[in-house]
Amino acid sequence: MSVAIMCSGGDSSGMNPAIKSFVDNCYEKNITPYFIYDGFEGLIDGNIKKASHEDVAGIMHLGGTIIRTSRSKRFYEYECRQIAYKNLQKFGIDKVILLAGDGSFKGFNQFSEEFDISFVGIPATIDNDIYGTDYCLGVDTSLNIIKHALDEIRDTSASFKRAFVVETMGRDCGYLALISSIISGAEVCIIPEIKYNLNTLEEKLKKELDEGRAYILAVVAEGTKQTQHIKEWFEKNFDIETRVMILGHIQRGGNPTVFDRLMASEFVTLGLDKLIANEKTKSVIAYKGSEFIFINIDTVTQNRYTINSKLLKMVKKLTR
Ligand code: F6P
Repeated sequence: MSVAIMCSGGDSSGMNPAIKSFVDNCYEKNITPYFIYDGFEGLIDGNIKKASHEDVAGIMHLGGTIIRTSRSKRFYEYECRQIAYKNLQKFGIDKVILLAGDGSFKGFNQFSEEFDISFVGIPATIDNDIYGTDYCLGVDTSLNIIKHALDEIRDTSASFKRAFVVETMGRDCGYLALISSIISGAEVCIIPEIKYNLNTLEEKLKKELDEGRAYILAVVAEGTKQTQHIKEWFEKNFDIETRVMILGHIQRGGNPTVFDRLMASEFVTLGLDKLIANEKTKSVIAYKGSEFIFINIDTVTQNRYTINSKLLKMVKKLTR
């Protein structure tokens, strides 16, 4: 039996531990492992190679993905998907593990329907925005990077009595900003999921400044597109110097945390077992309520992720 692994879309820390676990597991189970390099682009270009233990030696601690990834426009074209299928056929591959977000899951689902390929999707995106799962691979590393950044920004912010507006990634999802605000003790959290009220925030923060507050930390999710607006709001309404810090792509790299490494291994082991046991699966492994469950791909792609209401409630006071 031959099984391939590939990544698609934004990389996330934990992909390399997953790739290592895949190769180790395959050899243990007498399966021939293949790498599809460069995401869907590599699938179309036939950039496929049998994987060896040597390929994955010493990669556990590396962020990113040694098999690389891409955001492919060509994969939207049927002709390209047909070429991709022929490439898989050359190697006798009809089972794939896909490390990706839901956009890529959707694309691969269409491909798998057209050409009868089985696959298991492992939710892997720092955005943590995939329906049915509480956790996506890489989000823990990303949160730790943001935590370090906010701790450091607080030092300089307090030294100057400044306000800092820190923008986190997450595409349209406010998960990274929400969790980071809670664990770093931010004063303001602006996310797409909650309507903010600057009037009440102003009143509250001015009172705190009058009482001696030395700095203000505001975490803003990129999906709100409000970073500049919040900066201008501080400058206009408060007697406080304000700086903006866009954390950007550092949130996607870095040495994977213990949790992401462990989860990578769990996801891959279960995913591989599913592919071995069930010839025709098209599913995603989700981590829900501290348990692993398989969800049909259509359920995942046809529904929208929403942040847990308890978490939203925890952060409401930072929005108004
Ligand atoms: O989906 C992951 C992500 O990092 C988003 O948070 C962000 O909006 C986007 O990718 C950035 O994409 P790119 O790496 O193509 O600039």
